[in-house]
Amino acid sequence: MADARPFHWEFNPEPVRREVLRIEGGRRLEGTVSISGAKNAALKLMAAATLTGERCRFTNVPEIEDVRVLTEVLRDIGVTVDHPAPNVYEIASGDAEWLFVPLEAAAKMRASFILLGPLLTRFGRVIISNPGGDRIGRRPVNLHVDAMRALGAEIEYRNGYYFAKAPGRLRGAAINFPQITVMGTENAMLAAVLADGHTVIEPAAEEPEVDDLISFLQKMGAQVERTAPNRIEIEGRRRLRGADHSVVPDRIEAGTFIAAAGVTHGRITLQGAPCDHLGAFLKVMADMGVSISCGNDTIEVDATSTDLEPLRGCDIETQPYPGLATDLQPPTCVLLTQATGSSHVHESVFEDRLEWLGELRRMGANVEIADQHHAIINGPTPLHGEEVEIGDLRAGASLILAALAADGTTTIRGAHHVHRGYEKIDAKFLELGARIERLPEGT
Ligand code: EPU
Repeated sequence: MADARPFHWEFNPEPVRREVLRIEGGRRLEGTVSISGAKNAALKLMAAATLTGERCRFTNVPEIEDVRVLTEVLRDIGVTVDHPAPNVYEIASGDAEWLFVPLEAAAKMRASFILLGPLLTRFGRVIISNPGGDRIGRRPVNLHVDAMRALGAEIEYRNGYYFAKAPGRLRGAAINFPQITVMGTENAMLAAVLADGHTVIEPAAEEPEVDDLISFLQKMGAQVERTAPNRIEIEGRRRLRGADHSVVPDRIEAGTFIAAAGVTHGRITLQGAPCDHLGAFLKVMADMGVSISCGNDTIEVDATSTDLEPLRGCDIETQPYPGLATDLQPPTCVLLTQATGSSHVHESVFEDRLEWLGELRRMGANVEIADQHHAIINGPTPLHGEEVEIGDLRAGASLILAALAADGTTTIRGAHHVHRGYEKIDAKFLELGARIERLPEGT
């Protein structure tokens, strides 16, 4: 590998545009909203495109900051990424010339670590930054690294970087994760599809985005299959081909809008919404008294009756799929502030994902944070406009929901975090009748 370039070369010189959202609350949301493609599928599909030299074409890709960052990382390593139309990306990885994923990319987006498996298995080497922690806990990558080692990779960790090599070809193996990991499963799968021999991943994550990746890999000619709910088996191939794929709809965005309708006593229709992928969340909504009906491709949410009959509190616990998604814990908590009674929240997937409740408390919520994994929300309590700060994507979207329900004006700083994962969120809420303004910070 040509090691001439310094590690900290200028990646993405464009600075993050710090933004605030100003929201005037108290309006019922009404109308129709289109659900975008899933962030957590699109990023992995784009990484999978590096497994072949042939062109891959993706439609329904959300236009979000994380996709922009990954596009930039891919271009930096010599991959051609075209963006011929909104939501359409074409990727051709003829020859990656600089197999290096820098700290600057990892700092912006932990998901850049998903490039480890595909680059290592296709090109035999990669240097990739440790993505480290973020605002929802330590979030280590040891399970990804262990999986690559099980497949025969040699990996050293120096100065914040993993130096990974595959002497010859990676070899199929039994990968037994000590706990369920979504990206760990995906990284292992992406490496094993070009490895020599048979791989079994167990327990494998069951998220719909993992299945979307499986279905794209199959179109590429990979022999990969879910042979039991939590087992994926792979027979490695020497070569994969280019393929086209439409990204699965974003169940987390859909859940966020459902909670938004609930918290504003609104009535909205979600178009292109994945009802089948929202089972546990819809059960919580039903228990709380939000009326939901699923069509073929639509979800109707009606919370207008909560004007007369308040929402009911309930206890929730986040779990890997098919359990209640940790990414939907924050929007559910906002709804719980408007529900009658004492609701217990158990965040079992991540550490520190309850910290943001401190900001919700500043808006009037009655919240007790017992420890890193448990909180109690007592309701209903009226929320009021406030100046709040967000440091994480899902918490950010949820403070928008709180602001929509609050009396008065809320200013949300750090709003650029939300654009990492939600396409045109302000425009979508405006269309539903919200009063929301997006401004550069400092205005
Ligand atoms: N974990 C380890 N070691 C590892 C990997 C994970 O200890 O090597 C731990 C984590 O710290 C966590 C648990 O295992 O406690 C589960 O983490 P997982 O690996 O499943 O999470 P992830 O793959 O890093 C994805 C999503 C997250 C989502 C989680 C859980 C992407 C890019 N991210 O993260 O999405 O919350 O699965 O469903 O797919 C978001 O979109 O805002 C987001 C955070």
